Amino acid sequence: MMKIITVASAKGGVGKSTFCCSAGKMLAHNGQRVLLVDMDIGVRSLDILLGVAEKTVYNWGDVIKGNCEYRKAVTEISNGLFLMAAPIDFSEEYSVEGFKAMLSSLEKDFDYALLDAPAGLESGFRLCGGVSDCCVVMSTPDPISIRAATYAAQNMRDMGIKSIRLVINKFNKKLHKGINVDEFIDTVGARFLGVIPESEEIYRFVNGEKIPYKSKGNQAFLRISQRLEGKNVPFRVKNL
Ligand SMILES: Nc1ncnc2c1ncn2[C@@H]1O[C@H](COP(=O)(O)OP(=O)(O)OP(=O)(O)O)[C@@H](O)[C@H]1O
Ligand SMILES: [Mg+2]
Repeated sequence: MMKIITVASAKGGVGKSTFCCSAGKMLAHNGQRVLLVDMDIGVRSLDILLGVAEKTVYNWGDVIKGNCEYRKAVTEISNGLFLMAAPIDFSEEYSVEGFKAMLSSLEKDFDYALLDAPAGLESGFRLCGGVSDCCVVMSTPDPISIRAATYAAQNMRDMGIKSIRLVINKFNKKLHKGINVDEFIDTVGARFLGVIPESEEIYRFVNGEKIPYKSKGNQAFLRISQRLEGKNVPFRVKNL
């Protein structure tokens, strides 16, 4: 059965789309069939990040509205990795029920759907909360981002999501030395999933460059993808 995972943060720019592309790539590398779903209605970005903007004609809004069958709205990115773009305009037809029905029509073809939530706690975020099995809350180590992640986690819990996982992104060894991860986890109220270093390679990856499989960033995403699959991958550090 397809597992539906929302990647959310409430704040913009913390790395949700980066996470979807990179963790999605690693899950596909592990042999899973992964559908990335851009939930940022109006300001979608995954088609650009993944280099398929020109190929993307239909989006999940077209499927809900009956303008096309779902295969036409899915673009293959690489072996095992696929994308469904977000609609350009909001419509009242994009209800939780409609979105759920659309996802259930395609669930036999995928192992994972990663929903790239928009910043904020409004309609796109609510659609995600209405259909997901799990939410990955992203935060950078700065206090404003931690507060936003805490709101996102609380809102997801209020919508009935039981599995909430925390990812700390853009961790910089020099700047964030001494961060207490236990305190971070307690504040956000989520189970730890992993930490991703701030790295030029990750930045270059999301801007279209190939980066070495063995790079620190890729390895961090690989460990996270394995934990998402339920594998027991030990955490390397307690207090960073
Ligand atoms: N670990 C990282 N190291 C370096 N740069 C990063 C890292 N994670 C994300 N970035 C960069 O930070 C910027 C914002 O990332 P991204 O677009 O993934 O954030 P977002 O949460 O999806 O933003 P939005 O809320 O606007 O959709 C991008 O330029 C991205 O390349
Ligand atoms: Mg984004």
